[in-house]
Amino acid sequence: MTYPLTTSRLSIAPLGADDAAGFVAYRQDPDVARWQGWEPTYSDVEAAQLIASQPSSDLPDRGEWLQLAIHDLGSGKLQGDVAVHALTDLPDTFELGITLVTASQHNGMATEVLKRMLDHLFTTANAHRVTANCDARNSPVARLLRGVGMRKESSQIDVEFFKNEWITLDGYAILQAEHAAQSRGAAHL
Ligand SMILES: CC(C)(COP(=O)(O)OP(=O)(O)OC[C@H]1O[C@@H](n2cnc3c(N)ncnc32)[C@H](O)[C@@H]1OP(=O)(O)O)[C@@H](O)C(=O)NCCC(=O)NCCS
Repeated sequence: MTYPLTTSRLSIAPLGADDAAGFVAYRQDPDVARWQGWEPTYSDVEAAQLIASQPSSDLPDRGEWLQLAIHDLGSGKLQGDVAVHALTDLPDTFELGITLVTASQHNGMATEVLKRMLDHLFTTANAHRVTANCDARNSPVARLLRGVGMRKESSQIDVEFFKNEWITLDGYAILQAEHAAQSRGAAHL
C-alpha cells in the first residue's frame, strides 16, 4: 500500500469516514468553496456519498477521482485534501486539485503536498503528464502551481458558465521529463 505519503509536516492518505466532519466544515466555508465545484451548502450526506464511492486502489482508474486527506503529522488534524483524477482518454495522465482549510493556508503546506504528489506520480506511478486547472482569478493557486514547477499552457476565455457567470479557465501542466530535469537541478543547488 502506497499510503500514507509523508512530508516533513504532513501525511497524505485516502479520505475516510473519520474525516467526514472536518471535510464538511471546510467545504461549507464560502471562501474555500468560491472557486470549487461545490456550494457552501455542502452536506454530511454528500460527504458520506463521496467517501463511500472512493476507489480502493492506490491510484484512480481512468475517469475516476481519488480524494486524499491531508493531516498534520503532529496533531493528526485534517488540513485539507488533494484529489487525483486519471484522465479518461489518455494513459498515464493525471489532474490534481487541492484544498486547504483557511486557517492552514499561507504557510507552504499546499506546496509541500503538491511537490510530494508530483514526486509520487512521476517516480512511483510513472506518470507521463500531470495537469491542473483553475479559475484565472484564483491567484493563490496560480502562484502555487508555478511554484511547484508547472507551466501555464492555456487560458480558455469564458469557457464555462459556472456559479452564474462566465469563467476563464487556466490550464497548467508538467511532464515527467520536466519534473526529472527540475529535480536534477534542485539536487545541484
Ligand atoms: C489553492 C490553495 C490550496 C493555495 O494555498 P496556499 O496556502 O496559498 O499555498 P501554500 O500552502 O503553498 O502557501 C504558500 C504561501 O505561503 C507562504 N509561506 C509561508 N510560510 C511558508 C513556508 N514555510 N513555505 C512555503 N511558503 C510559505 C508563501 O509565501 C505563499 O504565500 P503567497 O501565496 O502569498 O506568495 C488555497 O488557496 C486553497 O485551499 N484555496 C481554496 C480552494 C481552491 O481554490 N483550490 C484550488 C482549486 S484548483
